[in-house]
Amino acid sequence: MLNALPPAALTIALPKGALFADSAARLASAGIDLPADSARRLFADTADGSRVLFLRPADVPAYVEFGAADCGIVGADVLWETERTVCELADLQFGACRLVVAGRRTDRYHEGAQLPTFLRVATKYDRTAEAYFAERDVPVQIIELHGSVELSPLVGLADLIVDLVATGNTLREHDLAVVAEIASSTARFVVNPVRFRAKYDRLTALVERLDPRALA
Ligand code: PRP
Repeated sequence: MLNALPPAALTIALPKGALFADSAARLASAGIDLPADSARRLFADTADGSRVLFLRPADVPAYVEFGAADCGIVGADVLWETERTVCELADLQFGACRLVVAGRRTDRYHEGAQLPTFLRVATKYDRTAEAYFAERDVPVQIIELHGSVELSPLVGLADLIVDLVATGNTLREHDLAVVAEIASSTARFVVNPVRFRAKYDRLTALVERLDPRALA
């Protein structure tokens, strides 16, 4: 596949959204400064010779697996759901959040009230949710959504949701409560394994500068 852009020393896939500000700050501390108008760009070539791609978080693994980016920053939550193969080099320890099962406070599932026999669970995390309930032998119908998941139990679409919680504000504002915790997530640095061998020195130097232990 032909690359229409001139080659860059290193191409880095960055997630827009919740992880963007911390990712940009971490890159800046590693000597890669993004332009101020990054939010409305598709990509930026930086003064150090890198190219940064601005992507939907769920798309980062595809760019890295196919080598359109050498490396990237992505939440562990995206890695749980992806079918793409990337190699995780470091836990960057920012963007902490938890994947939880939650329900309406008034249904009292968080206090152990009996769940309905035909349980409907709405989520963006259908693979992880499916595996979670299957491991517990709880039959569920998973309803895959793409955002505003907290709305679904309020309007009778689902009995429970599986979604990310960071501050807990969204759950609180909608009178929802955590029923169970599934996993916790932070931002990860991922590489394409072939590119890692080809650009070993450059990628090793970058991960060392991004790694929070190196910043301490
Ligand atoms: C995530 C998640 C919750 C919210 C939780 O959504 O799906 O809706 O953040 O954060 P809080 O506990 O701090 O309130 P995001 O903002 O990524 O948007 P999305 O619904 O489009 O995925």
